This record gives sequence, C-alpha cells and structure tokens, in this order.
Amino acid sequence: MSDSFKALVARKDDSHSCDYETLTLDDLDVGDVTVSVDYSTLNFKDGLAITGAAPIAQRQPLILGIDYSGTVIESQHTGFNVGDRVVMNGYGASEYLHGGYAERARVSGDLLVKLPDSISNAQAMAIGTAGYTAMLSVMALQNNGPAPGDGPILVTGAAGGVGSVAISLLADLGYEVVASTGRMSEAEFLKSLGAADTLDRAGLSERGKPLQKEQWAGVVDCVGSHTLANAIAQTRYDGVVTACGLAQGADLPATVMPFILRNVRLQGVDSVQAPMARRLTAWSRLADELDMQKLEALSFDLPFSEVLSRAPDILAGKTRGRAVVDLSR
Ligand SMILES: NC(=O)c1ccc[n+]([C@@H]2O[C@H](COP(=O)([O-])OP(=O)(O)OC[C@H]3O[C@@H](n4cnc5c(N)ncnc54)[C@H](OP(=O)(O)O)[C@@H]3O)[C@@H](O)[C@H]2O)c1
Repeated sequence: MSDSFKALVARKDDSHSCDYETLTLDDLDVGDVTVSVDYSTLNFKDGLAITGAAPIAQRQPLILGIDYSGTVIESQHTGFNVGDRVVMNGYGASEYLHGGYAERARVSGDLLVKLPDSISNAQAMAIGTAGYTAMLSVMALQNNGPAPGDGPILVTGAAGGVGSVAISLLADLGYEVVASTGRMSEAEFLKSLGAADTLDRAGLSERGKPLQKEQWAGVVDCVGSHTLANAIAQTRYDGVVTACGLAQGADLPATVMPFILRNVRLQGVDSVQAPMARRLTAWSRLADELDMQKLEALSFDLPFSEVLSRAPDILAGKTRGRAVVDLSR
C-alpha cells in the first residue's frame, strides 16, 4: 500500500457529515505505535457517531470507529514490536482520538492490548467493545454477586452485541440465563448461545411498580430506562444488576426501594476508560472462556465499504450479534 489509505471520516461544519476519504500517514494522530488495521466492527456507539444521532466525535475531521485490531508496523514503545498483533477498544477512539475505520492507525502504545495467541485479529473484532463489555459485565456480576445455581440471570438487549456475548459467557460458566428480546424470532438463536429461556422485552419496556415479584439473582442490562428500572424491581434479595447500555434510553425511572428493602446492588460498567489491568483480565478471560464456535455463530462479515450505509440499522435494533468489518473490502 502506498502512503495513502481509505478512512471513514466525520466532519462538522454547519451540520454533521460522514464519508469515505483518502488520507495519508501525516493525517494520523501523534503516537509511538503505528498499526496496519485489519478489522474493525460496528457497535451501537459507532452507529451514533456515524449518523450524528449523538455527539460522539469531539473534534473534526475525525476518523470514526471505536475499535480496531491489526498488526504493529512501527513502534517506539518498549512494550510493542513490529509484527505484534494488537487490539484497541475505546480510550477515546472516535471521540477525541482517530479511530479504527481506516487502514492505518497511530496511537500511544499505553492504550493498546496485545492479543492473546488464541484470538485472531478477525475474532478480536467479532468480540470488539461489545464482547469485551459483556466480559466486564460478567466480571462485575461475579464480584461478590450470584454464583451459578443461585438463580436465573436476566440479560436484556439479548440479540444485540453485548447481550449475545454475555449469554454465551454466562451460560458456559453454568448460570441459568433468561434472555429478554424484542425479536422473539431470534429465540432459537439465543437458546443456541445457551439461554435457558427467552422472554418478550415488551413486558419490561413500560413503566412498572417499584417492587415486583423477585425473580433474578442477577441482571446484565444493555438497555437502560424502564427496562432497567423493572429489572431492578424484579431482582431478588442480595442480587446484583449491572448497567452498561442505553438502547431504550439514558433515563432510570426507578425508586430506591429495591436497594433499601432487598439489598439489591446496581453496578455500572464502563469499557471506554476501564483501566489497563481490568482490560488485560477481560481479554485473557475472553481467550480462555469464550466459545469461538458460538462467537462465529453470532458474528457476520461486513465490508468496510458498507459501514456507512449499514450504520442506521444498529440504531434501529436490526443488527443481530456482531459485525466483523474487513478494512480491505
Ligand atoms: N458502557 C460501555 O462502556 C458500553 C460498551 C458497549 C456498549 N454499550 C452500550 O450497550 C448497549 C448495547 O450495545 P450493543 O453494541 O450490544 O448494541 P446493539 O447490538 O445494537 O444491541 C442493543 C440491543 O438492545 C435492544 N434494544 C434496542 N432498542 C431497544 C429499545 N428501544 N428498547 C428495548 N431494547 C432495545 C435490542 O435487542 P433485542 O432485539 O434483543 O431486544 C438491540 O439488539 C448500547 O446502548 C451501547 O451504547 C456501552
């Protein structure tokens, strides 16, 4: 490849715009590691950034894409050598740092994770921020939370990226998983990932009572709003609820009753600024625990050239599982 490469770039003049552009290495950020990017992905947040539905990009012009995997082609960082395979998740990519929708990236090596041998560059993006957030959610749930056998774990936004990986991880750890989805047509798919049961998300989507019948030993919530409020209200005494998403809304129309009467714990999950030690644990556990056959079943190929046109789909909840974006196509 010559010095120039293709990138998906957001600009903001009078209004938000986003399109493919040809850039050169001089357009990249300052950093001590240069990466030849092989794969990226399409997360919910990428959908927001590409369409401009939320102000994700904090500078312009900006290469979008919150994730990438690739191979180091230049390094002045003591932790990385040419040829190392690396993954970048969040840490400001697509916000105030150039992101992964480009065939080249330059970044501080302090923000990169070396990929475990058993995870290929394509698999790293089938996992992506969504899968790594699913593992962070599982880790948060397991931190003084329910053990397998203590009762069912509810996963909301089940057919999405975080939800589907969370189901696979939790089921393989021995938890009984109940998957809440708006797409009951995906019930068999969710069961193939390990869900013991599925329920229609409509039952969780509307405003509910502050305390409801105790059902869940734990919850992995990707949806927020009334869904999260109802999930908290249905959580058993001493249960743990993790909250990572806002697919339904950023509001939380709940009361303190489940916290003060049932000792329920609400644990936030952030992937973007998660400290390096937690990231390394998450990626190492993904290498050991994620069933790669299930990962393949829940992922699909997406050429880089189609990312722009497919971005609205993920905001409309039409994307199943995880997109693997091949930068060469
Ligand atoms: N905290 C973090 O660091 C972090 C990291 C990654 C993602 N996130 C957030 O986590 C959420 C999930 O991310 P993702 O990448 O998995 O997105 P995704 O693939 O689009 O999945 C979101 C899922 O939520 C459900 N959903 C969508 N609209 C809904 C609505 N109006 N009401 C109820 N459910 C709805 C759908 O599942 P069903 O079709 O099965 O109902 C959809 O597949 C997003 O809000 C994302 O921003 C946060």
